[in-house]
Amino acid sequence: YSILVLHGPNLNLLGKREPNIYGSVTLDEINLLLAGEEEKLGVVVSFVQSNHEGILIDTIHQAWGKHQGIIINAGAYTHTSIAIRDALSAVKIPTVEVHLSNIYQREAFRHHSYIAPVAIGQISGFGAQSYRLGLYALVDHLKKLD
Ligand code: DQA
Repeated sequence: YSILVLHGPNLNLLGKREPNIYGSVTLDEINLLLAGEEEKLGVVVSFVQSNHEGILIDTIHQAWGKHQGIIINAGAYTHTSIAIRDALSAVKIPTVEVHLSNIYQREAFRHHSYIAPVAIGQISGFGAQSYRLGLYALVDHLKKLD
């Protein structure tokens, strides 16, 4: 399978940004962690990070016919973006929503996700491991489809 990993706004600052909440791991390290699973899982993983809602949407559209699954950490757009949710609905690519922090332990405005209803499931609170667990869950789901 070809899997797209989409990182949303401010995630380029990981490692420097509020390490008490998000830890010291950088985005490159997360991507390396996932790339390290490729052989074992039999997948190829591609990575895109953008701070722009429209670019995230364009990237989701371009995934159509190219990627069989999506892992998305939409950052704060999780809580605001009907447009990203609609893009995911449109392409119908099985998607797992991930968050580094446990969004339910934080401010009330982070408790609602526009993405969750169109995702297979959500993994929140395990730092970089949220992505790895998400990748495992996504591949498991895809294998059951064929
Ligand atoms: C986040 C949680 C969001 O609420 C926040 O806006 C982020 C990161 C996470 O991975 O924990 O940017 O998605």
